[in-house]
Amino acid sequence: MVLPHSLPLVPLPAAAVVREGRMPITAATRVHGDSPAAGILIDAVARRAGFRPVRAEASETPQPGDVVLRLEDAIPASEAYSLRVGEHAQISGADEAGLFYGVQTLLQLLRDDEGWSVPHVDVDDAPRFPHRGVMLDVVRHFFSVAEVKTFIDATSALKLNRLHLHLTDDQGWRLQIDSWPRLTELSSSSAADGDPGGFYTKDDYREIVAYAASRHMVVIPEIDLPGHTHAIGVAYPDLVEAPVLNDGLVQQAESMGQPLPVAGEVYTGWGVGHSSVRIREERTYDFVRDVVREVAEMTPGPYIHIGGDESLGTTQEDFDHFVERATRIVTDAGKIPVAWHEVGAAEDIAEGTVGQYWGLTVPRGTHAAEAAHFVERRGSLIMSPADATYLDMKYSEDFPLGLTWAAIIDVRRAYEWEPTAVLDVADDAILGVEAPLWSETARTLEDVERLVFPRVAAEAEVAWSPREAPGREWESFRGRLGAQAPLWKAEGIRFHPAAEIPWSDR
Ligand code: ACM
Repeated sequence: MVLPHSLPLVPLPAAAVVREGRMPITAATRVHGDSPAAGILIDAVARRAGFRPVRAEASETPQPGDVVLRLEDAIPASEAYSLRVGEHAQISGADEAGLFYGVQTLLQLLRDDEGWSVPHVDVDDAPRFPHRGVMLDVVRHFFSVAEVKTFIDATSALKLNRLHLHLTDDQGWRLQIDSWPRLTELSSSSAADGDPGGFYTKDDYREIVAYAASRHMVVIPEIDLPGHTHAIGVAYPDLVEAPVLNDGLVQQAESMGQPLPVAGEVYTGWGVGHSSVRIREERTYDFVRDVVREVAEMTPGPYIHIGGDESLGTTQEDFDHFVERATRIVTDAGKIPVAWHEVGAAEDIAEGTVGQYWGLTVPRGTHAAEAAHFVERRGSLIMSPADATYLDMKYSEDFPLGLTWAAIIDVRRAYEWEPTAVLDVADDAILGVEAPLWSETARTLEDVERLVFPRVAAEAEVAWSPREAPGREWESFRGRLGAQAPLWKAEGIRFHPAAEIPWSDR
């Protein structure tokens, strides 16, 4: 028997047995089952191998070399699947997500070895964590609907199931809100570095949400409040305080040759912590309520993220007052609030608020206590430690893209951390993992892809695979990761060929 971790799979499956033999996949292969995942499989084989398997008629019985997709009540957990490859291949899913993940596994196994084929295997797989996320900052640089769809295709193939969209920040506002139309009229065309901005109409946003759903990703929209709100003040000056220019901000702007924020004018620098909505004005809460209501109306997923990070221009008392009200506005709109961990400093946040921890893997200062407060309030935690999961950190000192403030994160560092070992909370308080991509230095989709791939595959394995299993370690991972190169190339993913990884060409 060959050990399961010799299979070229990322993330590592929960259990797998490899047997002698391979099943050819050819133009005569027929795909059985009416799942949308069947179409996804056929299209992906066509891109990879250059021929199109055909869809079987419902009346046809499977022949050798065929692939059968079917929902199976016997598979216990949501998103779980089994894959049996012998004379024919059978993917059984607990639900449509399970079938989609089974298809991704089959595609990773597909190799051109004197003809296209997959090994005879039994895979039984299910995720470790329910929340396996990636974040895209579409503010510092804007990405079109088509680019976001490309990003969804590439990341969902690694069995990631949450797309957090960072939609608002100091440099722009990216989502149509009918009740406050000047947000997109006056504050959407800007971006960092003076680059062009853009925004999503409601139809654009719905298109992204529906496309993500077709790849089993739930969109988590973020409206960042009460800081990171300079752009709101460009559209509605009476909602936002004058910029707070602390020494660090001024020094950073000088050393980088970037502008300082000016009230009511578009901001194109990278500084943070200078803006705040007016916390003691009732009109601010009318605004938050309207925005949350409109976002909730077009978001089928359960979450709305209200930010809460780096509100350095706000007193603690004002910050607490704001986030206590804002989290309740989200629950009143029927959604679960998500917030960066700083929000846990406020005693009376809405019960059930999910915290997103972005401190370091060895927490500093009050970060761990703030995160723990979400659990005290019956919420749970998404783990995004900045020195392990931040995809906007450089791979190496001389990497042309990315920042360094949290760490230099090579692939091994992105892989070797444990989500339940960072904070002093119960293991079951950890909802999962999310890898954020902030886009200050990512001006194009190619830049995004180079920062995200391959490190996002490390986060996918941390989030999906069992904590301990044969092969759940760096030496195995780097080999399995290297085996993704032909698939990623066929999909047009412009990954960084990190020197740590033995990239395969077959
Ligand atoms: C953050 O990186 N400001 C959440």
